[in-house]
Amino acid sequence: MTDGAEGLFITLEGGEGAGKSTQVARLKALIEKRGHKCIATREPGGAPGAEMIRKLLVEGPAERWDGVTEALLHFAARREHLRTTVLPALAAGTWVVSDRFADSTMAYQGYGHGIDRAMLGELYDIAVGDFRPDLTLILDLPVETGLKRAAERRGNETRYESLPREFHERVRQGFLDIAEADPARCTVIDATAGIDDIARAIEAALDRHLEA
Ligand SMILES: Nc1ncnc2c1ncn2[C@@H]1O[C@H](COP(=O)(O)OP(=O)(O)O)[C@@H](O)[C@H]1O
Ligand SMILES: [Mg+2]
Repeated sequence: MTDGAEGLFITLEGGEGAGKSTQVARLKALIEKRGHKCIATREPGGAPGAEMIRKLLVEGPAERWDGVTEALLHFAARREHLRTTVLPALAAGTWVVSDRFADSTMAYQGYGHGIDRAMLGELYDIAVGDFRPDLTLILDLPVETGLKRAAERRGNETRYESLPREFHERVRQGFLDIAEADPARCTVIDATAGIDDIARAIEAALDRHLEA
């Protein structure tokens, strides 16, 4: 979607505790070191209205919403995030690195909760349209390792973490399926490696994208 004047939109995806937030910060620093303007943002959230919706999604008991309502809330937040944060930044030439984007909705609500994937695709078309990330990095690691890392974090954003292990196994497989179906956009990164090694693998994936 870029013609040189616009920024690049890069998304990091993966399960709980995969290291997304850690690597978003590293990637933003790398992009700035290379002389580009860059913002780091996250989903759900990334804009004032979307952050309000985030609280509804990541706090409270797991059974608070069914999968369809969850998907609708995620896409409502996403549309607001795009409209007020992502698209204006890209248009101004600023690169955007997002901690999660629409692949998370497909993995969590589609694969995890078993919501109809074609319907999720239709919601994408309604809420987002033709817009896609330029590059998506999928941080992959065993569910056990990720949940353990996530549990060591403090906070009350535990709604998804509290779902059973089988849910998270389906989410992991979902991300791998998404990557396999769209290899031009997605790169799977081994997230069991150390933080520096993962950052290097992400840099290599970015360079491959820029050379392609
Ligand atoms: N490669 C890594 N190896 C070990 N621990 C990590 C690694 N990357 C991140 N962590 C730690 O694991 C926890 C979860 O990382 P975080 O970046 O918050 O993951 P996510 O945003 O994907 O849930 C944090 O405490 C973080 O410091
Ligand atoms: Mg995070």
